[in-house]
Amino acid sequence: MVSKRVQSIKPSGVREIFEMASRDAINLGLGELDFEPPREAREALKEALDQDRNKYGPTKGIDPLRELVAGKVRKYCEDVTAENVIITASGTQGTMATFQTLFDPGDEVLVPEPGFVLYEPDSVLADAKPVAYHLLDEKGFQPDIEGIKESITPRTRGLVVNSPSNPTGSVLTRENFKALVDIAQDHDLWIISDEVYEDFIYEGKHHSFNEVLEGAVVLNSFSKSFAVPGWRIGYLTAPLDIINDLAKMQYHLVACPPTPPQFAIAKVFHAQEEFTRGILPTFDRRRVTITRMLNDIKGFHCHLPEGAFYAFPSYDLDIPSRDLARKLVAAGVICAPGTAFGDSAEGHLRFSYAASEASIIKGLDIVKKVVEGPQ
Ligand SMILES: Cc1ncc(COP(=O)(O)O)c(C=O)c1O
Repeated sequence: MVSKRVQSIKPSGVREIFEMASRDAINLGLGELDFEPPREAREALKEALDQDRNKYGPTKGIDPLRELVAGKVRKYCEDVTAENVIITASGTQGTMATFQTLFDPGDEVLVPEPGFVLYEPDSVLADAKPVAYHLLDEKGFQPDIEGIKESITPRTRGLVVNSPSNPTGSVLTRENFKALVDIAQDHDLWIISDEVYEDFIYEGKHHSFNEVLEGAVVLNSFSKSFAVPGWRIGYLTAPLDIINDLAKMQYHLVACPPTPPQFAIAKVFHAQEEFTRGILPTFDRRRVTITRMLNDIKGFHCHLPEGAFYAFPSYDLDIPSRDLARKLVAAGVICAPGTAFGDSAEGHLRFSYAASEASIIKGLDIVKKVVEGPQ
């Protein structure tokens, strides 16, 4: 018999559909760039291996990379130094370490819904209680500020924010950023801000919770921003008084982040923002195409995403999103059911546009045929 802990969490609803797909299915399902990392990054990784960077490294990550990350984060908060930075073995691991470090049994954590697949299980695995707050479809998936205020109890300890958002593609407005900061400060809540899509913004501006780092842990990753999800390197920034506790937890999860890719990323760090700036116009065109094609399907309605690389249409057909996603994968298109991102996201599908324009057009033609054809 396995533990009650593992039984208390569900497998990812995104993976389920992916694993049902045939080899030639059009993949609009996963949050993975269809670009390779820049050549100089790949060369730097080979060089790191050849230079015998194959040993364990420091638990908080190598100093040169911590320095470089601090330099990037200083555009939001000029007091940040390398001491505030931990290099993680991915955003996924950084998130786990953060929840395990901050929460006690019975604590309540406000998590966005629709929201990324980690926040709810990571709360449960920390014996905390996830309490969903809504991103409102009718408000372009901005957070329900009044609903958040009403959900706060004496046990509330954390507020998870993810902007740009997976799965909705929304970008937090300045007004709502300030409202969330006020709520967290008034009620002494930790803000856990997942900013892995910070460089993928088409409209609006990124408002980083690094601006208020004294009360926040900000999670980030190179998976999207350097197209290296397989390297498993991310980072977090946090106030100095909890950084050693986060590192202690990280030690027990992974001992240290992988060494060779840290040296590689440190070497080519200067090229990261240019890399994302270079691919952004392609993503911008794709998001317009996919939104137009989704809105052209009977019963579908889709906001133009402002950031990340997901479109999250609602539909008014009488079929659960899991069944619709299964039907679509049987017809050759992988997408994710809304319910993978929370029960209240029923009636939605998530399409990733980290795929070529040709795949998007072919895939959406199939979706239209399936949806508008005989049920
Ligand atoms: C919102 C969000 N946070 C975190 C992650 C985790 O990224 P990684 O573990 O590859 O760094 C993802 C990946 O899809 C994501 O979409």
